Amino acid sequence: MYQSNLLKNGSFINGQWLSSSEHFEVANPFDNSVLANVANAGVVETKLAVQAAKRALKAWSQKSANERSILMRRWFDLVMKNQDPLAEILTLEQGKPLAEAKGEIAYGASFIEWFAEEGKRVYGDTMQAPSNDKRIVVIKQPVGVVAAITPWNFPNAMIARKAAAALAAGCTFVVRPASLTPLSALALAELSKQAGIPDGVFNVVVGTDSRAMGEVLTTHPDVAKFTFTGSTNVGKTLIKQCASTVKKVSMELGGNAPFIVFDDADINAAVQGAIISKYRNAGQTCVSTNRILVQESVLAEFTAKFVKAVEALTLGNGLDSDVNVGPMISTSALDDVNQLVALSVNAGARVLTGGESKQGSCFYLPTVLANVTNDMAIAANEIFGPVAPIISFKTEQEAIEMANDTEYGLAAYFYARDIGRVWRVSEALEFGMIGINEGIISNAAAPFGGMKQSGNGREGSKYGLDDYMEIKYLCMGGI
Ligand code: SIN
Repeated sequence: MYQSNLLKNGSFINGQWLSSSEHFEVANPFDNSVLANVANAGVVETKLAVQAAKRALKAWSQKSANERSILMRRWFDLVMKNQDPLAEILTLEQGKPLAEAKGEIAYGASFIEWFAEEGKRVYGDTMQAPSNDKRIVVIKQPVGVVAAITPWNFPNAMIARKAAAALAAGCTFVVRPASLTPLSALALAELSKQAGIPDGVFNVVVGTDSRAMGEVLTTHPDVAKFTFTGSTNVGKTLIKQCASTVKKVSMELGGNAPFIVFDDADINAAVQGAIISKYRNAGQTCVSTNRILVQESVLAEFTAKFVKAVEALTLGNGLDSDVNVGPMISTSALDDVNQLVALSVNAGARVLTGGESKQGSCFYLPTVLANVTNDMAIAANEIFGPVAPIISFKTEQEAIEMANDTEYGLAAYFYARDIGRVWRVSEALEFGMIGINEGIISNAAAPFGGMKQSGNGREGSKYGLDDYMEIKYLCMGGI
């Protein structure tokens, strides 16, 4: 088994590591080997974590933004100093190639660095009062205890992105990471302790009873704000639960990203953009390309070059340096992809490469499907796997209509060089994030988030603190 002083095996509550007589196994999706036995927390521990966050709130929120920033900067430095072991833990529990895992650690850390700075730039406001004996002042204050549920596809960065904004705003934080990938979250907690972040400010509860733990986090009266990254269906249930105590919520939910290649695109650049946006993390990313829409006149050229690039991808153990596609997270995830591909083939799609799983493993071959139409299940659903369906279109208007014909609105990509088209299409696409001649759009400086049923709120950027702050209006009279 892998050894590291960052490898922890129990929840982190109020600065303490919890043990338990009941454990669950964390396995490597590459070969199913057991990486750790982790103490299984449930309702009781989740409530304890909320209480700890509540107790720590006053002192943390009353620190100056500069004091919080110094501690967060230390946390950032420690994460970057430990980038290699953190990446190894991440690859072992999640499966993504080591280079991608290192990228994720730096990406997650960049939010800690970003918000350590941004917390110093929370501005209030003054307004013209309706009469001369009054003054209007607006201040911003932390919302309070924040609870989060985070997914297995980015076991480090999805926590860092939420926690950094919350802590910088002066909130305290409880996260329940996915029980498939708790080790990265616990390693982050260890580094928060080493950085000197006070007990109770950052808490991690790990356990397998997602429903019961989720219920505590979404209904507990001491939780002021709830934030979730995951599927739209689960998000809807959690929003309903949050209604019982009218919590502030932000949701980063599913996507169905179109990747449009227009006839004036640089085709080689489009192929590269589609490869990275489709196959990173084996396609298990909310912003992954889900449908490739290609204008008829460049369909043959794009398809030939794309298939060649897909066939050059190497599948294997994420720890091997030449691997660029790792295993999927679980056999049930693999089954879902198999089913979507089978449905498409039955409906008339043609497999150009891939189209099957590797027997006895969690691997699905990088796949390209031709003859797909926008009404097939593979185009309507979030695939969350390494499968690229190609759909052809004739006109710009048709591409926009097809792209928008989904309940999702997270990310979209398009490749074009005509500046008029770039503006028209950017404005017409109903998605929160648009990559224009670019397949990788995520970074700490930009607002990450979606429209329609892809959620609400924005993470990262100068907007990222808003979800963790209350706006308070002071009316000063008798002047
Ligand atoms: C996600 O899949 O939810 C996040 C992807 C990213 O931050 O790029």
